[in-house]
Formats: sequence, structure tokens, C-alpha cells
Amino acid sequence: MLMTRLMSTIKSVCSLNRRREFDELLRRLAPSKQDSLLDIGSGDGYWTSYFAQYAGPTVGLEPDPAALNLARQLHGHGITFQQGFAEELPFDDSSFDCVASVSCFEHFRDAQKALDECYRVLKPGGRLAISVDSLLPQNSSSEFRSWHSKKYFVTEYFPEQRLTTMFEQSGLRPAGEPVTHLLNSQRSARIRERFLRNPRRWLPAFPLLYSMVLYFDRHEADMPGQVLVATAFKPPIPDNEAFPKRSRHSRPEVSSPPFAPALTSN
Ligand SMILES: C[S@@+](CC[C@H](N)C(=O)[O-])C[C@H]1O[C@@H](n2cnc3c(N)ncnc32)[C@H](O)[C@@H]1O
Repeated sequence: MLMTRLMSTIKSVCSLNRRREFDELLRRLAPSKQDSLLDIGSGDGYWTSYFAQYAGPTVGLEPDPAALNLARQLHGHGITFQQGFAEELPFDDSSFDCVASVSCFEHFRDAQKALDECYRVLKPGGRLAISVDSLLPQNSSSEFRSWHSKKYFVTEYFPEQRLTTMFEQSGLRPAGEPVTHLLNSQRSARIRERFLRNPRRWLPAFPLLYSMVLYFDRHEADMPGQVLVATAFKPPIPDNEAFPKRSRHSRPEVSSPPFAPALTSN
């Protein structure tokens, strides 16, 4: 168990972007101990357990039975890990104050349906914060995108505008704060690409690479980020009755979509 815990920690910590995604998501959600929180695509539960340190009742949702099992073993105390798909959340309407998702939407079969579901399970006034991969012609080569999408089972990369449109379509309102772009310089992105292609080789240099990525992102930002963090909220009072379709009972059935193996990290 010690070894499993160690491996999970190394996998989660030794990412050039995940910690920053988490910090940004947490800052934007700002959960309190009174807030219930749902982490969609919780994987092995590593980041869910961090959310749980700040939030009240915390639930991790994950379709992969192996990851779910691991999450329960490693972080099961005080956190509920439940099996399910983002496109058909197994929760009642208006169940959560906060919904988070760390680098998952790019793997979903139907991201819009997942956002509709986020809207449904959020309480009025509830907050959503997600991080997504955004590999685009402006920030990566087609060769890298093709390699990355196959390796990590990506169904869609999200430009910022697409996220905004999807939020609006689901009835969510973009939060006042602009979308955060990580890996937003040529040099930081190239470092990450090399690291992702051969993490074992580059692992000993991780602290140096991480510092370089931070430096280049801060001082040489010159393109849309390869990773985006975006926030939205459910209006405290719906604008009108245009959203009754978001009631659980009228939701069309979704057949269980395939999912990316949870125990990989990008
Ligand atoms: C890149 S992993 C991220 C895991 C975790 N959030 C983290 O940052 O360590 C993507 C996760 O999304 C999950 N996933 C894929 N399709 C899903 C779906 N339709 N609904 C919910 N989760 C899904 C995968 O099983 C996997 O655990």
C-alpha cells in the first residue's frame, strides 16, 4: 500500500501543469467547510483529497473501476467515491455548492451533455471550475496533437471560445474572471511536450523544468495556453423558465461511453 501511495503521489505531483491547475481551480472555487463539492473524473482521488481539505462533504465521481478502487483505498476516509459518468451524473438536482473537474472534459464523449449535468446538479448560485487541455494549431504541432490525443484518449481540445459557448448553452454564466492560460509560451510548451513524451528520462530534471515552465509562462507568454482553467456559476434565480429540460427526469438516457484509462496523467 505504501508503494501504491508513493506511485500515485509521484504521478500526480510530477506533472508540469497539474498542481497549477489544482491551485487555480481551488482559488476560483474557494470552497468553505459548509460547501459540498463534486470532483468529476476523480481518477485515483489524489486531487479530490486536496479539495476535501478545504470543502465540506466531498464526492469523487469516476467511471473506471480500477481507479475508483484505488481512490477508495488511498483516500476513502471522509470522501465518497462513486462510480458514474459525467454525461449522466447519479445525483439529484441542486445537490452541490461546487463542481470541479481536473483535466477530464477533453476525454468525455459529450462535453456539452456533461456541462448540462453540471448545471443540473449545482445548487442555484453554485460554482463550477474546470481545467481542460487546449492543444491548438496556435500552440502545438499537428504531430504532437496527434500523438497526445491517441496516447491520452482525447475526444476534443477546447479553445477558450468553445468553452464559453458551451457554458452559455448549458445555462451557466461565465464567472467575472477571465479564463487562465497555462503553458502559454512557446518555450514552456516545448518543455512540457518533451517531458510528456519521455517522463522517465526527464524525471531527474523535474524541479528545474518546473521552474523554467513557471518562468517562461510568466515572462514570455506569447500564445493561447495548452491548458485552460475556466469558471462559471449557476444563476441564483434562473433567468426564465427556459431551462426545465435540465430536470433529471426529462434527461435522455446516455449509454455508458468508453473512457480513457484513469491511471495515466497528462
Ligand atoms: C486525465 S484523468 C484525470 C484524473 C484526475 N482528475 C487527476 O487529475 O488526476 C481523466 C479522468 O477522466 C475520467 N473520465 C473519462 N471519461 C469520463 C466520463 N465520461 N465521465 C467521468 N469521468 C470520465 C477517466 O476515467 C480519468 O480518471
